[in-house]
Amino acid sequence: MLAGKRILLIIGGGIAAFKSLDLIRRLRERGASVVPVLTRAAEEFVTPLSVSALAAEKVYRDLFDLTDEAEMGHIELSRDADLVVVAPATADLMAKMAGGHANDLASTVLMATDKRVLIAPAMNVRMWEHPATQRNLKTLESDGALVVGPNEGDMACGEFGPGRMAEPLEIVAAVEAALLNGPLHGKKILVTSGPTHEPIDPVRYIANRSSGAQGTAIARALSTLGAEVIFVTGPASVTPPDGVAVIHVETAQQMLGAVNAHLPADAAIFAAAVADWRMAEDAPEKIKKDGSGEAPILKFTENPDILAHVAHLKKGRPNLVVGFAAETENVVDHATTKRDRKGCDWIIANDVSLETGIMGGDENDVVLITGAGAEDWPRMSKDQVAVRLAGRIAEALGK
Ligand code: CTP
Repeated sequence: MLAGKRILLIIGGGIAAFKSLDLIRRLRERGASVVPVLTRAAEEFVTPLSVSALAAEKVYRDLFDLTDEAEMGHIELSRDADLVVVAPATADLMAKMAGGHANDLASTVLMATDKRVLIAPAMNVRMWEHPATQRNLKTLESDGALVVGPNEGDMACGEFGPGRMAEPLEIVAAVEAALLNGPLHGKKILVTSGPTHEPIDPVRYIANRSSGAQGTAIARALSTLGAEVIFVTGPASVTPPDGVAVIHVETAQQMLGAVNAHLPADAAIFAAAVADWRMAEDAPEKIKKDGSGEAPILKFTENPDILAHVAHLKKGRPNLVVGFAAETENVVDHATTKRDRKGCDWIIANDVSLETGIMGGDENDVVLITGAGAEDWPRMSKDQVAVRLAGRIAEALGK
């Protein structure tokens, strides 16, 4: 059953578009809601009215529709779904996806999404066999797209061979497999995220620049792959992802308590920027100026190291413990030492010097350090880092 699942269905312009009407019906029968996007070419084959009537949803048609952008922008449209399905995926749509084009609503949504994409190719046999299409298919698969079909058979164009779009029920089965049996299905993963706030007195606190963006993206990517995610977050500025269990904390000590309370887990990812120190003594009242002109001297004590604590657990240690290393110099050396010292399996090192714009920004430039050595990843968005990391975690836990 697909109850509560939201499918963004992109209908491309091919004769097989008529089958997508039945696909909408079949998905809805199983409890999914379907938000349709029609390309201009698709409108030559099916009408927005019939699509909208079957989906019982508004049909999204044009990138520059001001009302649509005001109601729901293309970014939200792409993020609001659990899965993006492209059916039929024409040769042209596949080429656009593989090339990263974003010149209409469908291609822009496909570029902006952080969800998995399932394509159901449909085209003439020669077009399917053309080296360009086969090249694009490989690119899409290596970008993580799921593919259903095409099937072999008589085609509307009079030829015979592979190119027929998979039948609606086959596409439904692929949707169910993608949503219900992701590679992390049945795995429980704990993720810490965001900064911590350590009170100085009832009105002041020590904080850091972490926005929680990277941890949030990781939680979302893991959940998309089917994991049960426990998301322990400090006071972050980004909103936690949907579909994960969110535990809000403020201080490092509270974060440790929440982590301990939710173990055991199959894996734990420590993306939080935990404050290293807290006040040595609680100040129950606001600290006042004493009139002498001298500033108060604050005394700190070290916070518990949550990552090191979990990584060194004798009993109930997660199979995979992943930490981050926020460094401002000698990034790989410091991170490699940190990995040993903290006892984690992997460490993701990044340079958080102010000029990199990483802390609080949308992009990240990381080196993944495992027992096998250091892997330098190209600079990419935090969402892409998360998707790549989630894939690696699925691989590691699958062994
Ligand atoms: N971490 C933690 N608890 C702490 C401090 C850090 O769980 N009290 C985790 C972070 O979530 C991150 C990793 O440890 O995964 C490294 O954090 P970082 O701030 O880079 O390292 P520090 O422990 O602060 O070490 P240093 O001061 O030497 O940089």
